[in-house]
Amino acid sequence: MSSLWAKKAIKTIQADYQRSADTHLIRLNLPMFSDISIYLKDESTHPTGSLKHRLARSLFLYAIINGWIKEGTTIIEASSGSTAVSEAYFARLLDLPFIAVMPFCTAKRKVQEIEFYGGKCHFVEHSALIYQESERLAKELNGHYMDQFTYAERATDWRGSNNIAESIFRQMQLEPFPEPAYIVMGAGTGGTSATLGRYIRYQGYDTSLVVVDPENSVFYDCYRQNRCDLLSNNGSKIEGIGRPRAEPSFIPSVINDMIQVPDPASIATIYWLEKLIGRKTGASTGTNVWGALQLAQKMHDNNQQGAIVTLLCDSGERYLDTYYNPEWVRNNIGDITQYLTQLPKLTGYE
Ligand SMILES: Cc1ncc(COP(=O)(O)O)c(C=O)c1O
Repeated sequence: MSSLWAKKAIKTIQADYQRSADTHLIRLNLPMFSDISIYLKDESTHPTGSLKHRLARSLFLYAIINGWIKEGTTIIEASSGSTAVSEAYFARLLDLPFIAVMPFCTAKRKVQEIEFYGGKCHFVEHSALIYQESERLAKELNGHYMDQFTYAERATDWRGSNNIAESIFRQMQLEPFPEPAYIVMGAGTGGTSATLGRYIRYQGYDTSLVVVDPENSVFYDCYRQNRCDLLSNNGSKIEGIGRPRAEPSFIPSVINDMIQVPDPASIATIYWLEKLIGRKTGASTGTNVWGALQLAQKMHDNNQQGAIVTLLCDSGERYLDTYYNPEWVRNNIGDITQYLTQLPKLTGYE
């Protein structure tokens, strides 16, 4: 039997969910790909601004039901920022103290948002250090280390429960090609790609799951070489995706293919996309859309019709001082001109 506090906490989270709306599926029209529809599942419209709102809800429910979070438990999380913003929201909803352990280079806006929800930020030098520092803090404070990198793949019900995959396929029902040829997604924890891949198989769809990976991430090589022990010394420059180790929630066996995306291509794509949809997006959305465009080109070359779905993970307003600052881009990403020139030619959209 669960405690009175746990019962009330679960009801509070469910009531919050009941008050929520689903996110929009935006359709892109590109002159070069008249027979191929590309869709963006807009996860930036969750109350905490990213796809991590779904994950944070699932992680809290999972931990409360398992008896890991109780009344007054301090929650500690290792994050590149987005998950921490969403978890700070749920911690405040349940009146629990929350500490985010993040690399010091995390977008300032995310830090402000965590603090807005009453969370505290604890910084480390490098993204590879967030795990052990979170464990240490949890021990010191007798708190609970949420550990999204381990639990993302299992806290979400991959069979349905309005997970992101079920929502996408429901929203595609009246489209010309309801069963997409491809779903494209990057990996941070790997949890979203695990949910998508498992759901596709469970439902027996012919959709291929393609995972895109930025520079300085080990996921691509892990997948190609079938090895989980690879490590990288440099952190990913695309916030939210690409990791220095193969995270436990990254499940290669449900992925059909992977594409490596150069960082300048991800950034050029968000500039190009802003003109198309009138909105700024985060860099991981650029990685997703660049991957989707490569697949659209391949389908076009093979005279194939169909749909491709990818995710708009979060809004670009969080990154005005980095990805949308030309000087920062020049110093940290390099020259993006080649890709800025390529995108209009590839898509027919200037
Ligand atoms: C902005 C952004 N995009 C994409 C992802 C990747 O999602 P997942 O952790 O489910 O692999 C994350 C995860 O942190 C993120 O913050």
